[in-house]
Amino acid sequence: TPAFPIFTQEEVTSHRSLEDGVWVTYKGGVYDITDFVAMHPGGDKILLAAGGDLEPFWALYAVHSQEHVLEILSEYKVGEL
Ligand code: HEM
Repeated sequence: TPAFPIFTQEEVTSHRSLEDGVWVTYKGGVYDITDFVAMHPGGDKILLAAGGDLEPFWALYAVHSQEHVLEILSEYKVGEL
């Protein structure tokens, strides 16, 4: 199992724009999704979660409750909280 670096919430929150990088958290994982933003099928809405947790948004948009969505997310993991 690869060891991922630990980030603080403050570090995650400092990455909430395309310029500074777009990071999100999900179940304790930290993800740098900057390169995925332009590929997101739901467009710029993804930026609402920038610097924070995905779960409240994915609870609203149930389209994300699919294995293939989690597979995409896993490709962007950079650390843990
Ligand atoms: C659709 C991934 C964050 C809103 C999708 C789909 C994927 C995806 C793969 C297509 C699903 C399918 O049809 O099979 C992701 C990933 C995210 C993310 C990897 C975070 C890293 C968000 C956020 C929001 C959002 C934060 C809203 C605030 C939507 C909407 C759609 C969608 C509205 C439906 C688009 C349509 O079919 O017209 N997302 N999403 N997504 N996403 Fe996301």
